[in-house]
Amino acid sequence: MKFGTIFSITLLVQLVVSVELDINDKDSICEAAKSVVQGELNYYEGTKYGGTVGMFSNPYYWWHAGEAFGGLVDYYTFCESDNKTLEKLIYNGMYHQAGDDYNYIPSNQSMTEGNDDQGVWGMAVMQAAERNFTDPKDHSWLEMTQAIYNTMNSRWDTKHCNGGLRWQIFTWNSGYDYKNSIANGCLFHIAARLARFTDNKTYAKVAEKVWDWMEDVGFATYVDDELVVYDGAKIGGNCTDLTKSKWSYTYGIFLSGCAYMYNYTNDNTWLDRVDEILRSSDFFFKDGYMFEHTCGGGSDCNNDERTFRSLFSRCLGLTSILAPSTKDTISTWIDTSAQGAASSCSGGTDGITCGEDWSKGSWDGVYGLGEQMSALEVMMALIVKTPLTADTGGSSKSNVNAGTNTGSEENKNEIKVTSQDKAGAGVLTAVVLLIITGGSIWMLF
Ligand SMILES: *[C@@H]1O[C@H](CO)[C@@H](O)[C@H](O)[C@H]1NC(C)=O
Ligand SMILES: *[C@@H]1O[C@H](CO)[C@@H](O)[C@H](O)[C@H]1NC(C)=O
Ligand SMILES: *[C@@H]1O[C@H](CO)[C@@H](O)[C@H](O)[C@H]1NC(C)=O
Ligand SMILES: *[C@@H]1O[C@H](CO)[C@@H](O)[C@H](O)[C@H]1NC(C)=O
Ligand SMILES: *[C@@H]1O[C@H](CO)[C@@H](O)[C@H](O)[C@H]1NC(C)=O
Ligand SMILES: *[C@@H]1O[C@H](CO)[C@@H](O)[C@H](O)[C@H]1NC(C)=O
Repeated sequence: MKFGTIFSITLLVQLVVSVELDINDKDSICEAAKSVVQGELNYYEGTKYGGTVGMFSNPYYWWHAGEAFGGLVDYYTFCESDNKTLEKLIYNGMYHQAGDDYNYIPSNQSMTEGNDDQGVWGMAVMQAAERNFTDPKDHSWLEMTQAIYNTMNSRWDTKHCNGGLRWQIFTWNSGYDYKNSIANGCLFHIAARLARFTDNKTYAKVAEKVWDWMEDVGFATYVDDELVVYDGAKIGGNCTDLTKSKWSYTYGIFLSGCAYMYNYTNDNTWLDRVDEILRSSDFFFKDGYMFEHTCGGGSDCNNDERTFRSLFSRCLGLTSILAPSTKDTISTWIDTSAQGAASSCSGGTDGITCGEDWSKGSWDGVYGLGEQMSALEVMMALIVKTPLTADTGGSSKSNVNAGTNTGSEENKNEIKVTSQDKAGAGVLTAVVLLIITGGSIWMLF
C-alpha cells in the first residue's frame, strides 16, 4: 500500500470516531464522557492482573488516583448510577487506599505523600459523601474525610510564618521546608465542605483561620486590584520569598471553598471573595478555552500540571451551583472548554484519545491520564448537581473524632516498618542518606 493511501484511510477513520458532544443534551454529554472514561480506565491498574487496586499505571502517583476517583464519583452519579461494575470499581479503589488508620495515609505512600496529596484524596472522599455514594459499613466516606481533616489540621504549624501547613507531611520528603497554597487550600476547602455538610461551625472557624493566614502571609494578595493566589514560600525567610507561579487547581480549590462558605454562612464577605477569585481565574482562559497558563498549556506541562484542569473544572462546577450568581460567567467558560475538549478527543489508535490543547479543534498529539480526566471533568461541569448535606439526604455517618486517636505517627515523623515494608525500608534508608548528603529524593525516581 502506498503511503498516501494509508494516510487517507487513517484520516477517514479519525473523522469517523472522534468524540461527539452536544453541550445542551445530557445524553450526548454522558455518551461523550463514556468514551473519555474508557480511555481514562486504560491507565487503571486495579482491574488488571497483578495491578494494585486504587492505583493508575506508572508514571502516575498516588495523588493522581485521588484526583481521578473524585471525577469518577461524579461521572457515576450523573451518568451511570445503574452500573454496578463501575460502582464496584470506584468503591474498591477508593476504599483500598484509605490506609490502616482510614485517614488516607497508607504507610507505603510515605515516600510520595504530602498534605496536598492527602487533601486531594479528601476532596474525592468528600465528593463520595456529598453524592451519597455507597458507603463502607465500618468507615463512612464522611468519617474518613473527618479523619483527613483532623490529621491535617493537627499539623497546623505556628512555629514558622505564624501558621499554615507545610507542603510535606514527612521530614524526609523534598519540600518539607516549604509552605504552599495548595496544601493550605485543601484544608480550607475540606473544612468549608464539612461545615456545610454537617452544619458544624467549628469547621467554618478553621476555614476562616486558613483564609486569614493566607492573606496574612501574602500567598493570597491583591495585585493591581486583583486577588491573586501564589504558589508558596520557604519557611526559611519567614515565608517572605514568594514563588509566584499560579496554578488553576489552586484557584479552583480556593474559589469553591469560598463558595461553600458563602452557601453555608450566607455572608457576602465570602461571595465577594468568590467574585474576586473568579475574576482573576480569567488567567486560565485563552479565547474562552481553559489552559494551564503557567506551563504554557501544551506538551511542556508535566504530568502533574496536565491534570490540574480536572480539579479546576470540578471546582468551577461546584461554585456555579453554590454561588448561583456566578453561573453565567462559569457556564460560558465551561461550554466553550467542554466543546474544545471533546474535539481534542480524536487522537491515538482508538481515535478518541484526548489532547491537551482545547482550542485547536482536533488532537494535538499530547496524551495521558491528565488529558482524559480533565476532559471528563469539564464535561461533568456541564451537568453538575447540588452537593447533598446531612439535612438533604446525604446519609454518610459523622464521627467528629475520626483520626484523632491513631497515634498520628506521621506527626512524629516516624513510620512503622512492617515486614511487607522491608524492601521499602532499604529504599528509605538510601533516601535519608541522600538527603543527609545533600542530594535530592527525586534523583531516585
Ligand atoms: C500498598 O499497600 C496496599 C494496601 O495494603 C497494597 O495493596 C499495595 O499493593 C501496596 N503497594 C502499592 C504500590 O500501592
Ligand atoms: C459499566 O462500567 C464499566 C466500567 O467503566 C464499563 O466497562 C461498562 O461498559 C459499563 N456498562 C454499561 C452497561 O455501560
Ligand atoms: C512572619 O510572617 C508572619 C506571616 O506573614 C507574620 O505575621 C509575622 O509577623 C512575621 N514575623 C516576623 C518576625 O517577621
Ligand atoms: C446554596 O446552594 C443552593 C443550591 O444550588 C442554592 O439554591 C442556594 O441559593 C445557595 N445559597 C446561597 C446563599 O446562595
Ligand atoms: C442516600 O443513601 C441512603 C442509603 O442508601 C438512602 O437511604 C437515602 O435515601 C439516599 N439519599 C438520597 C438523597 O438519595
Ligand atoms: C463539631 O466539630 C468539632 C471539631 O471536630 C467537634 O469537636 C465538635 O464536637 C463538633 N460538634 C458537634 C455538635 O458535633
